[in-house]
Amino acid sequence: YLNYRVPRTRRDIFQTLIKGLQRLEYRGYDSAGVAVDGSGKDHAASISLYKKTGKVKALDEEIYKNNAIDFEAELDTHFGIAHTRWATHGEPSPVNSHPHRSDKNNEFVVIHNGIITNYKELRKYLVSKGYEFESETDTEVIPKLIKYLYDNRENEYVSFSTLVERVIKQLEGAFALVFKSIHFPGEAVATRRGSPLLIGVRCQYELSTEQIPVQYNCGKSGSLHPFFSNQFCSLEVSFKTKICLLLFFSLSAIIEHTNKVIYLEDDDVAVVMEGKLYVHRIKRKAGEDPVRVIQTLQMELQQIMKGNFKAFMQKEIFEQPESVVNTMRGRICFDGNTVILGGLSDHLKEIKRCRRLILIGCGTSYHAGVATRQILEELTELPVMIELASDFLDRITPVFRDDVCFFISQSGETADTLMALRYCKQRGALTVGVTNTVGSSICRETDCGVHINAGPEVGVAMCVCAYTSQFVSLIMFALMLSEDRLSMQQRRLEIINGLKKLPELIKEVLALDDQIKSIADELHHQRSLLVMGRGYNYATCLEGALKIKEITYMHSEGIMAGELKHGPLALIDKHMPVIMIIMRDACYKKCHNALQQITARQGRPIILCCQDDPEISKMAYKTIELPQTVDCLQGILSVIPLQLISFHLAVLRGYDVDCPRNLAKSVTVE
Ligand code: F6R
Repeated sequence: YLNYRVPRTRRDIFQTLIKGLQRLEYRGYDSAGVAVDGSGKDHAASISLYKKTGKVKALDEEIYKNNAIDFEAELDTHFGIAHTRWATHGEPSPVNSHPHRSDKNNEFVVIHNGIITNYKELRKYLVSKGYEFESETDTEVIPKLIKYLYDNRENEYVSFSTLVERVIKQLEGAFALVFKSIHFPGEAVATRRGSPLLIGVRCQYELSTEQIPVQYNCGKSGSLHPFFSNQFCSLEVSFKTKICLLLFFSLSAIIEHTNKVIYLEDDDVAVVMEGKLYVHRIKRKAGEDPVRVIQTLQMELQQIMKGNFKAFMQKEIFEQPESVVNTMRGRICFDGNTVILGGLSDHLKEIKRCRRLILIGCGTSYHAGVATRQILEELTELPVMIELASDFLDRITPVFRDDVCFFISQSGETADTLMALRYCKQRGALTVGVTNTVGSSICRETDCGVHINAGPEVGVAMCVCAYTSQFVSLIMFALMLSEDRLSMQQRRLEIINGLKKLPELIKEVLALDDQIKSIADELHHQRSLLVMGRGYNYATCLEGALKIKEITYMHSEGIMAGELKHGPLALIDKHMPVIMIIMRDACYKKCHNALQQITARQGRPIILCCQDDPEISKMAYKTIELPQTVDCLQGILSVIPLQLISFHLAVLRGYDVDCPRNLAKSVTVE
């Protein structure tokens, strides 16, 4: 966070940083820290570091307890950095938290989002040069390395950005980094490779430009120092007195300060100095955009606030009637039975000619692929493969130029999915993003895509709205692709009508909340919960079980009912809680058979079924009766009771629904 020529007290600086961290808490964290200019007259000549394990609130309290900090001191140029950490190397502890430092004098401090894969080699080298490490993290090699380069610069003048450029040449892995140094007071340098990083620009007046040019090959050493070359001085964003630039890893932290942002590209080095912003790169690659556009975001802060709900997850569950409408808005013509996904129009011919569709994602996003595979196969008559991104890469799966690969990701930043995307791109396949985050890495790196418009998600574990919106988006894709198939028209009509009625039916399901809560009351002491179904509802079982385990910490398994007799039946007795999904579709009879096998072993299943189904009701321990829709859309309705059940179970078991342990919202490491 850098503020230029806007006098602020040190208290304001802390508050801005802490608030930013609180907005980032939803991503998952185990500790947090800040680095600001030190106290004293020449405040920029020293850096103070504060770090704490646990919630951001604990860090805040720690800072305010500190009598040595002069909170009322007014500073007119100041730069602070802060970060929450989610442990990848080393346990959660203050010393392992960010910012990391070069030495005891805090000459260089760094925050890092991502992972450095060659840190062991770098650490070994730096240890051999006499550097002492205090943490077990991969990140700590970065401040040590920049200090090493600074100390060994001989007599040459080296700018801060040049040092950073030299550092990143040595790094392997994924990173977004922000550096601060006592040798370059009031200056911030940020860079990224494979992890998101954006710059918020807040200016007292209208911005004088909407884009900033990228500087290439800035002199022999890549220096940007104004003394070195006057040409760089003309590249300011604006210089009308009050400008404030904020560098963040996530939109939610930035949005309360400004809606003007710049997305940095891999290997961009951004320098903020005296109210000016420079973006530069060592070399220009063929076809590379030589400017970075200042974008205006439409997202508002209240969109990410909790409202009257107990938790963000609950809010998201209840917002689904609106979020699915937002996903469909302007894309389906209910009278003409046409579906247009603008982001795919230019590639439609190519997609129709493809050899197969490959849907790739992780966790909930993968489940959205499982949920829609059958209808995609039916309407497109193409082979459809569903892949977990990590496994897809592990197998070095063959991909061909005439494949169309979909990358499904709420955040658009999941490292495994992003790597699978790069893998498919290299092999010449057409890549399609299905994301909820405009400007995310997956959005930008795919050839074309569908934005699911589910709104911002704040609950850590919850791809709640995103799941149903991904589901609807993939159905719309199947409808768009089959528009000219005469034999499919009847089916398409049925589905389009089903989509039209969907928001009302979701509301009907949400009205069952009290009944679902009473079931959760009964189940919350259990250790295990099986969720069983097949066909169109199998994905619901996987997704329901994932939600249950990640926020209630109960063991839960989504079981394909067709596999029951091949093993899981052994788990069934009168004590094992089972939820079954038995809807009136092509699998109804087979599910009924599975039900009989369960009741014959004294199982007491809670059944999600269609309204007025006495056959099922009489065999159930309890039923949750759902409105019926078209078979391929039923999963959108059947997942909602499971979302609600997991929410109530977590609350009853006393857990923080929005911050499940060990999880991060956006998994930007492999
Ligand atoms: C489940 C959950 C995760 C994500 C997965 C993929 O509630 O949050 O399973 O679905 O990490 O994330 P995205 O969709 O952002 O790629």
